[in-house]
Amino acid sequence: MTRIPSSTQTVQFSEFGGVDVLELVEIEMPHPGPGEVLVEVLVAGINHIEAYIRQGLFADDIPTSANQTQGSDFAGIVIEVGEGVTRFTRNAEVLGHARLSSHAYHVVVSADNLVAKPKQLSWEVAGSLFLAGLAAHDLVEAAHISPGETIVVSAAAGGVGSIEIQLAKLRGATVIGTCGERNFDYLRQLGVKPVVYGDGLADRIELLAPNGVAAYLDNFGQNGADIAAQLEVDPARYASSDERKRIEVTAIDPDEHERARNTLVLARLAELAATRQISVLISGYYPFGLVHEAFDDLETRHARGKIVLGMKPAHSYGVVKARTYADAAE
Ligand SMILES: NC(=O)c1ccc[n+]([C@@H]2O[C@H](COP(=O)([O-])OP(=O)(O)OC[C@H]3O[C@@H](n4cnc5c(N)ncnc54)[C@H](OP(=O)(O)O)[C@@H]3O)[C@@H](O)[C@H]2O)c1
Repeated sequence: MTRIPSSTQTVQFSEFGGVDVLELVEIEMPHPGPGEVLVEVLVAGINHIEAYIRQGLFADDIPTSANQTQGSDFAGIVIEVGEGVTRFTRNAEVLGHARLSSHAYHVVVSADNLVAKPKQLSWEVAGSLFLAGLAAHDLVEAAHISPGETIVVSAAAGGVGSIEIQLAKLRGATVIGTCGERNFDYLRQLGVKPVVYGDGLADRIELLAPNGVAAYLDNFGQNGADIAAQLEVDPARYASSDERKRIEVTAIDPDEHERARNTLVLARLAELAATRQISVLISGYYPFGLVHEAFDDLETRHARGKIVLGMKPAHSYGVVKARTYADAAE
């Protein structure tokens, strides 16, 4: 049995600001209390809200402190189990959600925050599913889409949009997605009609939707509400980017009921991805030490699909396979 090291590393910040305030620091290894597990993180997704929190834009909603850690999404291997935990044992392969702490080599969470990783699901996708997937899931559910309806998704090639379009298609919708021209092929491969954003967007959408637009899921904000109004979308079926922010804030600080539900949604998304009913494109895979570069990339607002941090990245001199790693831990 491999010994658990006495220390680990995590990302922290102690003042609000740009990526430069992020530090990779050595900390004492955390250990699980009753009902908790210690997970060795293999992959952790990054999200815009982490940048917004670090910039101080959510100071009223999500209190932070000195040596503030970050990160919601992760996938990894359980290496220590706290008292009373029976659902997961050491070496279990899992994905989960954490409160501002998954951008680290190790994370302690309640066992209730974990889902068993389906074998067919890649580590990269498993580690990036939570926050974007939950936002996409909840927004599509709230849109009450019926088969045959046409809906619009803005920033459709992004982390949240690319999942929303697929969930909406599973509900039988015809989906129009706004994006830059470089993403037309990507959206077409997902069965979505791409339309370039910018001046004249409502007119271009009307040409693609002669029978009208039933719902508008707006990830980008800015003039999205005006476009939806021009398209005569029922205001109750326009999901603003503020609504999306509210879902993400609630997901970071959920009550007990919401936390349990979030795990159920994550399990559902994992199943959909494992069975190829949705596909999540990982367009950036950054070694953990390059966390600053990963956020620089995200904050350009032109990512396609998801960007992740890899805690066990491949090296030019050899590949560390997740299965090799899991075998060694036994
Ligand atoms: N996390 C939050 O709380 C939150 C809430 C609301 C809105 N947002 C914002 O919503 C955007 C999408 O979020 P995400 O998490 O899916 O991020 P993401 O993965 O970084 O998405 C970026 C996508 O946005 C598209 N995009 C860039 N400029 C656009 C514009 N003017 N109109 C429509 N789409 C545009 C890009 O398309 P091209 O590369 O094809 O140009 C790219 O595919 C981000 O810019 C984010 O800041 C975030």
